[in-house]
Amino acid sequence: MNLVRPDARGPLGATALDRLARLAAERGGSVGVDEALALLLHDPEVGYYGRRVGTVGAAGDFSTAATLHPALGGAIAAWARARARELSLPRPVWLIEVGAGSGELADGVLRALPFWERRAFRYAIVESSAPLRGVQERRLGRRADFLGTVAEALQAAGGNALVFSNELVDAFPFRVVERRGGEWLEVRLRVEGRRIAETTGGPVPPPGEWPDAPEGQRCEVRAPYRAWLSEWAPHLRRGRVLTVDYGGLFPDLYLGRRRGTLRGFVRHGRVTGADVWANPGRQDVTADVNFSDVVRWGIELGLAPLSLVTQREFLLGQLPSLARRAARERALAFVLDPEGMGGATLVLEQGPRDAGP
Ligand SMILES: C[S@@+](CC[C@H](N)C(=O)[O-])C[C@H]1O[C@@H](n2cnc3c(N)ncnc32)[C@H](O)[C@@H]1O
Repeated sequence: MNLVRPDARGPLGATALDRLARLAAERGGSVGVDEALALLLHDPEVGYYGRRVGTVGAAGDFSTAATLHPALGGAIAAWARARARELSLPRPVWLIEVGAGSGELADGVLRALPFWERRAFRYAIVESSAPLRGVQERRLGRRADFLGTVAEALQAAGGNALVFSNELVDAFPFRVVERRGGEWLEVRLRVEGRRIAETTGGPVPPPGEWPDAPEGQRCEVRAPYRAWLSEWAPHLRRGRVLTVDYGGLFPDLYLGRRRGTLRGFVRHGRVTGADVWANPGRQDVTADVNFSDVVRWGIELGLAPLSLVTQREFLLGQLPSLARRAARERALAFVLDPEGMGGATLVLEQGPRDAGP
Protein backbone atom coordinates (compact mmCIF):
# COMPACT_ATOMS: atom_id res chain seq x y z
CA MET A 1 0.00 0.00 0.00
CA ASN A 2 1.45 3.35 -0.95
CA LEU A 3 -1.03 6.14 -0.43
CA VAL A 4 0.86 9.40 -0.64
CA ARG A 5 -0.90 12.54 0.50
CA PRO A 6 0.54 16.05 0.37
CA ASP A 7 2.87 16.96 3.20
CA ALA A 8 1.03 18.62 6.12
CA ARG A 9 1.38 22.39 6.02
CA GLY A 10 0.93 24.61 9.08
CA PRO A 11 -0.86 27.96 8.99
CA LEU A 12 2.42 29.81 8.50
CA GLY A 13 3.23 27.76 5.40
CA ALA A 14 6.03 25.54 6.77
CA THR A 15 5.31 21.89 6.01
CA ALA A 16 5.91 19.02 8.41
CA LEU A 17 8.84 18.05 6.20
CA ASP A 18 10.32 21.59 6.37
CA ARG A 19 10.01 21.54 10.13
CA LEU A 20 11.61 18.10 10.34
CA ALA A 21 14.46 19.22 8.06
CA ARG A 22 15.07 22.23 10.28
CA LEU A 23 15.05 20.06 13.40
CA ALA A 24 17.47 17.57 11.84
CA ALA A 25 19.81 20.44 10.85
CA GLU A 26 19.72 21.71 14.45
CA ARG A 27 20.64 18.20 15.66
CA GLY A 28 23.62 17.92 13.32
CA GLY A 29 21.92 16.28 10.30
CA SER A 30 19.58 13.67 11.76
CA VAL A 31 16.87 13.45 14.37
CA GLY A 32 15.78 10.55 16.62
CA VAL A 33 12.48 8.87 15.75
CA ASP A 34 11.07 9.91 19.15
CA GLU A 35 11.72 13.59 18.54
CA ALA A 36 10.51 13.30 14.93
CA LEU A 37 7.26 11.64 16.07
CA ALA A 38 6.65 14.31 18.70
CA LEU A 39 6.61 16.74 15.75
CA LEU A 40 4.90 14.59 13.10
CA LEU A 41 2.18 13.33 15.44
CA HIS A 42 1.60 15.97 18.09
CA ASP A 43 2.80 19.37 16.91
CA PRO A 44 -0.24 21.71 16.98
CA GLU A 45 0.65 23.19 13.58
CA VAL A 46 1.80 20.26 11.45
CA GLY A 47 1.25 17.10 13.53
CA TYR A 48 -1.21 14.34 12.65
CA TYR A 49 -3.06 14.39 16.00
CA GLY A 50 -2.18 18.03 16.67
CA ARG A 51 -3.81 19.38 13.52
CA ARG A 52 -4.71 16.97 10.73
CA VAL A 53 -6.73 14.16 12.29
CA GLY A 54 -10.40 14.35 11.34
CA THR A 55 -11.72 11.70 13.69
CA VAL A 56 -11.16 8.08 14.75
CA GLY A 57 -13.33 5.29 13.32
CA ALA A 58 -14.93 4.62 9.94
CA ALA A 59 -14.60 8.25 8.80
CA GLY A 60 -10.99 8.52 10.01
CA ASP A 61 -7.71 6.77 9.20
CA PHE A 62 -8.11 3.83 11.59
CA SER A 63 -10.69 2.15 13.82
CA THR A 64 -10.31 1.01 17.40
CA ALA A 65 -12.27 -1.46 19.54
CA ALA A 66 -14.10 1.56 20.93
CA THR A 67 -15.31 2.68 17.49
CA LEU A 68 -16.08 -0.83 16.24
CA HIS A 69 -18.45 -2.02 18.95
CA PRO A 70 -19.92 -0.73 22.25
CA ALA A 71 -18.63 -3.81 24.15
CA LEU A 72 -15.52 -2.04 25.44
CA GLY A 73 -17.58 0.86 26.80
CA GLY A 74 -19.95 -1.59 28.47
CA ALA A 75 -17.10 -3.57 30.01
CA ILE A 76 -15.36 -0.44 31.31
CA ALA A 77 -18.64 0.76 32.83
CA ALA A 78 -19.03 -2.61 34.60
CA TRP A 79 -15.41 -2.48 35.75
CA ALA A 80 -15.83 1.10 37.04
CA ARG A 81 -18.98 0.26 39.02
CA ALA A 82 -17.25 -2.74 40.60
CA ARG A 83 -14.08 -0.82 41.52
CA ALA A 84 -16.00 2.18 42.83
CA ARG A 85 -17.79 -0.20 45.20
CA GLU A 86 -14.77 -2.29 46.20
CA LEU A 87 -12.58 0.75 46.86
CA SER A 88 -15.41 2.74 48.47
CA LEU A 89 -14.53 5.68 46.26
CA PRO A 90 -16.16 8.91 47.43
CA ARG A 91 -19.02 10.29 45.34
CA PRO A 92 -19.05 11.55 42.73
CA VAL A 93 -16.71 8.86 41.44
CA TRP A 94 -14.32 10.40 38.94
CA LEU A 95 -13.81 8.54 35.68
CA ILE A 96 -10.85 10.08 33.86
CA GLU A 97 -10.47 8.99 30.24
CA VAL A 98 -7.21 9.96 28.56
CA GLY A 99 -7.04 10.30 24.78
CA ALA A 100 -10.72 9.96 23.92
CA GLY A 101 -10.52 9.99 20.09
CA SER A 102 -14.00 10.41 18.61
CA GLY A 103 -15.63 10.34 22.08
CA GLU A 104 -17.26 7.02 21.25
CA LEU A 105 -15.83 5.19 24.24
CA ALA A 106 -16.98 7.96 26.59
CA ASP A 107 -20.43 7.80 25.05
CA GLY A 108 -20.45 4.01 25.40
CA VAL A 109 -19.33 4.05 29.05
CA LEU A 110 -21.86 6.73 29.98
CA ARG A 111 -24.70 4.94 28.21
CA ALA A 112 -23.79 1.64 29.86
CA LEU A 113 -24.04 3.06 33.39
CA PRO A 114 -27.54 2.36 34.73
CA PHE A 115 -29.48 5.66 34.71
CA TRP A 116 -29.99 5.57 38.49
CA GLU A 117 -26.21 5.47 38.97
CA ARG A 118 -25.09 8.00 36.36
CA ARG A 119 -25.17 10.90 38.77
CA ALA A 120 -22.81 9.04 41.07
CA PHE A 121 -20.11 9.34 38.40
CA ARG A 122 -18.32 12.33 36.94
CA TYR A 123 -16.71 11.86 33.53
CA ALA A 124 -13.55 13.82 32.73
CA ILE A 125 -11.55 13.72 29.52
CA VAL A 126 -7.92 14.67 29.07
CA GLU A 127 -7.19 15.08 25.36
CA SER A 128 -4.07 16.57 23.78
CA SER A 129 -5.42 16.92 20.22
CA ALA A 130 -7.35 20.15 19.56
CA PRO A 131 -9.28 18.72 16.55
CA LEU A 132 -10.31 15.58 18.47
CA ARG A 133 -11.27 17.58 21.52
CA GLY A 134 -13.63 19.52 19.25
CA VAL A 135 -15.15 16.23 18.02
CA GLN A 136 -15.54 15.02 21.61
CA GLU A 137 -17.14 18.25 22.81
CA ARG A 138 -19.65 18.15 19.98
CA ARG A 139 -20.51 14.54 20.69
CA LEU A 140 -20.66 14.63 24.48
CA GLY A 141 -21.77 18.17 25.30
CA ARG A 142 -22.10 18.66 29.02
CA ARG A 143 -21.88 14.95 29.82
CA ALA A 144 -18.08 15.26 30.18
CA ASP A 145 -15.64 17.79 31.65
CA PHE A 146 -12.52 18.59 29.67
CA LEU A 147 -9.33 19.08 31.64
CA GLY A 148 -5.84 19.96 30.47
CA THR A 149 -3.78 17.30 32.23
CA VAL A 150 -4.30 14.14 34.26
CA ALA A 151 -2.63 15.83 37.25
CA GLU A 152 -5.22 18.62 37.04
CA ALA A 153 -8.05 16.10 36.81
CA LEU A 154 -6.69 14.16 39.78
CA GLN A 155 -6.40 17.33 41.78
CA ALA A 156 -10.05 18.15 41.04
CA ALA A 157 -10.92 14.57 42.07
CA GLY A 158 -9.04 14.84 45.36
CA GLY A 159 -6.68 12.07 44.20
CA ASN A 160 -9.52 9.49 44.00
CA ALA A 161 -10.27 8.31 40.49
CA LEU A 162 -10.49 5.54 37.93
CA VAL A 163 -8.16 6.55 35.10
CA PHE A 164 -8.43 4.66 31.82
CA SER A 165 -7.44 4.77 28.18
CA ASN A 166 -7.83 2.78 25.00
CA GLU A 167 -5.05 2.93 22.40
CA LEU A 168 -3.45 5.93 24.11
CA VAL A 169 0.01 4.54 24.86
CA ASP A 170 0.57 3.50 21.25
CA ALA A 171 0.09 7.16 20.24
CA PHE A 172 3.10 8.26 22.32
CA PRO A 173 6.36 8.90 20.46
CA PHE A 174 9.03 6.21 20.71
CA ARG A 175 12.66 5.69 19.90
CA VAL A 176 13.61 2.94 17.43
CA VAL A 177 16.72 0.89 18.20
CA GLU A 178 18.49 -1.71 16.07
CA ARG A 179 20.82 -4.54 17.04
CA ARG A 180 24.19 -4.32 15.22
CA GLY A 181 27.40 -6.14 16.10
CA GLY A 182 26.31 -6.91 19.66
CA GLU A 183 25.21 -3.33 20.36
CA TRP A 184 21.92 -1.49 20.13
CA LEU A 185 22.08 1.55 17.85
CA GLU A 186 19.53 4.32 17.53
CA VAL A 187 17.62 4.61 14.24
CA ARG A 188 17.48 8.27 13.21
CA LEU A 189 15.86 10.20 10.36
CA ARG A 190 17.34 12.52 7.74
CA VAL A 191 15.52 14.65 5.21
CA GLU A 192 16.90 14.09 1.69
CA GLY A 193 15.26 16.42 -0.81
CA ARG A 194 11.53 15.87 -0.31
CA ARG A 195 11.77 12.51 1.42
CA ILE A 196 12.58 11.17 4.85
CA ALA A 197 15.30 8.49 5.04
CA GLU A 198 16.38 6.30 7.93
CA THR A 199 19.98 6.26 9.13
CA THR A 200 21.74 4.64 12.09
CA GLY A 201 23.11 6.67 14.98
CA GLY A 202 25.25 5.81 17.98
CA PRO A 203 24.84 3.15 20.68
CA VAL A 204 21.93 3.45 23.11
CA PRO A 205 20.83 1.39 26.13
CA PRO A 206 19.25 -1.99 25.24
CA PRO A 207 15.46 -2.07 24.96
CA GLY A 208 15.34 -4.78 27.67
CA GLU A 209 16.92 -8.11 28.66
CA TRP A 210 17.47 -9.92 25.35
CA PRO A 211 21.09 -11.08 25.12
CA ASP A 212 20.55 -13.32 22.08
CA ALA A 213 18.54 -10.81 20.05
CA PRO A 214 19.20 -11.49 16.36
CA GLU A 215 21.40 -9.19 14.28
CA GLY A 216 19.31 -6.46 12.65
CA GLN A 217 16.48 -6.79 15.20
CA ARG A 218 14.56 -3.56 15.70
CA CYS A 219 12.58 -2.57 18.80
CA GLU A 220 10.73 0.54 19.93
CA VAL A 221 11.22 2.22 23.32
CA ARG A 222 8.54 4.63 24.57
CA ALA A 223 10.40 6.71 27.15
CA PRO A 224 8.08 9.76 26.64
CA TYR A 225 5.26 7.67 28.11
CA ARG A 226 7.26 7.14 31.29
CA ALA A 227 7.96 10.87 31.56
CA TRP A 228 4.24 11.60 31.12
CA LEU A 229 3.23 8.98 33.71
CA SER A 230 5.67 10.46 36.22
CA GLU A 231 3.77 13.77 36.02
CA TRP A 232 0.58 12.34 37.49
CA ALA A 233 0.97 8.79 38.90
CA PRO A 234 2.14 10.09 42.31
CA HIS A 235 -1.12 12.11 42.59
CA LEU A 236 -3.37 9.05 42.44
CA ARG A 237 -4.19 8.26 46.08
CA ARG A 238 -7.08 5.85 45.76
CA GLY A 239 -8.27 4.33 42.50
CA ARG A 240 -7.07 2.38 39.51
CA VAL A 241 -5.39 2.84 36.14
CA LEU A 242 -6.72 0.71 33.28
CA THR A 243 -4.63 0.67 30.11
CA VAL A 244 -5.98 -1.01 27.00
CA ASP A 245 -3.67 -1.24 24.00
CA TYR A 246 -2.18 -3.55 21.41
CA GLY A 247 1.16 -5.06 22.32
CA GLY A 248 2.77 -7.70 24.48
CA LEU A 249 5.59 -8.56 26.83
CA PHE A 250 9.25 -8.10 25.95
CA PRO A 251 10.90 -9.76 24.08
CA ASP A 252 8.04 -12.07 23.01
CA LEU A 253 6.33 -9.23 21.21
CA TYR A 254 9.26 -9.03 18.80
CA LEU A 255 9.68 -12.73 18.07
CA GLY A 256 9.38 -13.23 14.32
CA ARG A 257 9.22 -9.46 13.79
CA ARG A 258 12.81 -8.62 12.93
CA ARG A 259 11.93 -5.14 11.66
CA GLY A 260 10.05 -4.30 14.84
CA THR A 261 6.43 -3.17 14.96
CA LEU A 262 6.61 0.35 13.45
CA ARG A 263 3.74 1.02 11.05
CA GLY A 264 1.45 3.76 9.80
CA PHE A 265 -2.24 4.06 9.05
CA VAL A 266 -3.81 6.19 6.38
CA ARG A 267 -7.44 5.86 5.32
CA HIS A 268 -7.61 2.42 6.93
CA GLY A 269 -4.61 1.21 4.93
CA ARG A 270 -1.63 -0.13 6.85
CA VAL A 271 1.78 1.14 5.67
CA THR A 272 5.16 -0.29 6.60
CA GLY A 273 8.83 0.12 5.66
CA ALA A 274 9.83 3.40 4.00
CA ASP A 275 6.14 4.26 3.39
CA VAL A 276 5.74 4.98 7.10
CA TRP A 277 7.54 8.27 6.43
CA ALA A 278 5.79 9.03 3.11
CA ASN A 279 2.98 11.24 4.48
CA PRO A 280 4.64 13.37 7.14
CA GLY A 281 2.06 14.87 9.49
CA ARG A 282 -0.76 13.28 7.49
CA GLN A 283 -0.87 9.75 8.81
CA ASP A 284 -0.84 7.97 12.10
CA VAL A 285 2.51 6.38 12.94
CA THR A 286 2.47 3.81 15.69
CA ALA A 287 4.08 0.67 17.16
CA ASP A 288 3.03 -2.06 19.58
CA VAL A 289 3.11 -1.28 23.28
CA ASN A 290 5.82 -3.01 25.28
CA PHE A 291 3.79 -3.89 28.39
CA SER A 292 6.92 -5.04 30.24
CA ASP A 293 8.06 -1.40 30.15
CA VAL A 294 4.63 -0.07 31.12
CA VAL A 295 4.47 -2.45 34.12
CA ARG A 296 8.05 -1.67 35.21
CA TRP A 297 7.67 2.10 34.84
CA GLY A 298 4.43 1.93 36.81
CA ILE A 299 6.17 0.08 39.66
CA GLU A 300 8.97 2.67 39.66
CA LEU A 301 6.35 5.42 39.92
CA GLY A 302 4.25 3.81 42.66
CA LEU A 303 1.69 1.85 40.61
CA ALA A 304 1.50 -1.86 41.35
CA PRO A 305 0.41 -4.16 38.49
CA LEU A 306 -2.80 -5.91 39.56
CA SER A 307 -3.74 -7.83 36.43
CA LEU A 308 -2.75 -8.17 32.79
CA VAL A 309 -5.21 -9.99 30.53
CA THR A 310 -6.19 -9.98 26.89
CA GLN A 311 -9.00 -7.76 25.66
CA ARG A 312 -11.07 -10.91 25.10
CA GLU A 313 -10.55 -12.02 28.71
CA PHE A 314 -11.34 -8.55 30.02
CA LEU A 315 -14.53 -8.18 27.97
CA LEU A 316 -15.84 -11.65 28.81
CA GLY A 317 -14.76 -11.29 32.45
CA GLN A 318 -16.83 -8.12 32.82
CA LEU A 319 -19.72 -9.09 30.54
CA PRO A 320 -19.97 -12.91 30.13
CA SER A 321 -23.11 -12.58 27.96
CA LEU A 322 -20.97 -11.15 25.14
CA ALA A 323 -19.82 -14.69 24.27
CA ARG A 324 -23.31 -15.62 23.08
CA ARG A 325 -23.84 -12.38 21.16
CA ALA A 326 -20.59 -12.78 19.22
CA ALA A 327 -22.16 -15.47 17.03
CA ARG A 328 -24.62 -12.87 15.70
CA GLU A 329 -22.52 -9.67 15.72
CA ARG A 330 -19.53 -9.56 13.40
CA ALA A 331 -17.91 -6.49 14.94
CA LEU A 332 -18.16 -8.07 18.37
CA ALA A 333 -16.62 -11.31 17.11
CA PHE A 334 -13.80 -9.17 15.69
CA VAL A 335 -12.97 -7.39 18.96
CA LEU A 336 -13.16 -10.73 20.85
CA ASP A 337 -11.18 -12.80 18.31
CA PRO A 338 -8.40 -14.56 20.27
CA GLU A 339 -6.34 -14.81 17.04
CA GLY A 340 -6.92 -11.14 16.21
CA MET A 341 -7.80 -8.00 18.12
CA GLY A 342 -9.11 -9.86 21.17
CA GLY A 343 -5.76 -11.58 21.73
CA ALA A 344 -3.40 -8.90 20.44
CA THR A 345 -4.82 -6.17 22.69
CA LEU A 346 -3.93 -6.32 26.39
CA VAL A 347 -5.64 -4.77 29.39
CA LEU A 348 -3.43 -3.78 32.32
CA GLU A 349 -4.87 -2.76 35.66
CA GLN A 350 -2.63 -0.91 38.10
CA GLY A 351 -3.27 0.61 41.51
CA PRO A 352 -1.42 2.85 43.94
CA ARG A 353 1.08 0.64 45.74
CA ASP A 354 0.34 1.85 49.24
CA ALA A 355 -3.44 1.89 48.95
CA GLY A 356 -5.63 -1.00 50.04
CA PRO A 357 -7.38 -3.28 47.54
C1 LIG B 1 -5.21 6.00 18.76
S1 LIG B 1 -6.24 7.28 19.34
C2 LIG B 1 -7.40 6.35 20.34
C3 LIG B 1 -8.69 7.09 20.55
C4 LIG B 1 -9.74 6.44 21.43
N1 LIG B 1 -9.24 6.18 22.74
C5 LIG B 1 -10.27 5.16 20.82
O1 LIG B 1 -10.02 4.09 21.38
O2 LIG B 1 -10.94 5.23 19.78
C6 LIG B 1 -5.20 8.07 20.53
C7 LIG B 1 -5.86 9.18 21.29
O3 LIG B 1 -4.99 9.65 22.32
C8 LIG B 1 -4.83 11.06 22.21
N2 LIG B 1 -3.53 11.38 22.82
C9 LIG B 1 -2.30 11.06 22.36
N3 LIG B 1 -1.36 11.47 23.23
C10 LIG B 1 -2.02 12.06 24.26
C11 LIG B 1 -1.61 12.66 25.49
N4 LIG B 1 -0.31 12.74 25.82
N5 LIG B 1 -2.55 13.15 26.32
C12 LIG B 1 -3.87 13.05 26.01
N6 LIG B 1 -4.32 12.49 24.86
C13 LIG B 1 -3.41 12.00 24.01
C14 LIG B 1 -5.00 11.31 20.74
O4 LIG B 1 -5.22 12.63 20.42
C15 LIG B 1 -6.19 10.42 20.47
O5 LIG B 1 -7.40 10.98 20.94
